[in-house]
Amino acid sequence: MNDKVRRLPSRGRIRFDIRKDSVALADAAAAEAKEVLGAAIEATGAATFVATGGSTPGPIYDRLSQADLPWDKVTITLSDERWVDPASPDSNARMVRERLLQGPAAAARFLPLKGDAATPEEDANAAAGWLAALPRPIDLVFLGMGDDGHIASLFPHSPALAQGLDDETAALCIAVPCGGDRAPPQPRLTLTLPLLKSARHIVLLFAGRRKFDVLEAALAADDPYLYPVRALFGAPAGVHVLCAS
Ligand code: 6PG
Repeated sequence: MNDKVRRLPSRGRIRFDIRKDSVALADAAAAEAKEVLGAAIEATGAATFVATGGSTPGPIYDRLSQADLPWDKVTITLSDERWVDPASPDSNARMVRERLLQGPAAAARFLPLKGDAATPEEDANAAAGWLAALPRPIDLVFLGMGDDGHIASLFPHSPALAQGLDDETAALCIAVPCGGDRAPPQPRLTLTLPLLKSARHIVLLFAGRRKFDVLEAALAADDPYLYPVRALFGAPAGVHVLCAS
């Protein structure tokens, strides 16, 4: 895949970084998060980290949780959440609690997106309230990418996508309906793109050739409604694409 990295068209400030396998990816991502969060705490006394869900970050969080950082100065929330019981194996909050909020990192403040509201919309509104109170810009955002080019829970074909991608939206967190026979398989909560793009440091994480081909197609198609990941590359801080074969 190395040669494909070199052939990818440069777009804005995208930094491609390909590691030999998922172990090297996890080592690199955990080290980058430690460096970015540590620098933020050094500079401002605190750090805010938007952590991705999905299956890719688990090994990264296992490593990061053991990092020697003043974790009590770190606030962690999620890029998106499945609107399921927090005890569900599908819950991103459960994955973060089990893989990141362990060891030294257990001292971090964790703000899950899903609360106790009766509907995803009410939970999204409640999350938007405390997201608005967080120090801005967010210091670090980790995002995964789906095989359809989605990031967070900004899915192609979703009725919520237009608002989620809208640079003018005031909404910080929105509800995403279940996609029926399309993704997502359950209702979601997602941070909106303007909030994600406003971060000081953004890392897009994925593994596997298939996803590399998806990213290449997204950059070539240049249509965020077809490939929402494309919209991320307008971020002023640029995007570090950290991937592995
Ligand atoms: C989620 C995510 C989602 C994820 C991608 C990639 O809740 O699933 O936040 O955007 O990052 O679907 O998922 P994998 O890491 O499992 O490939």
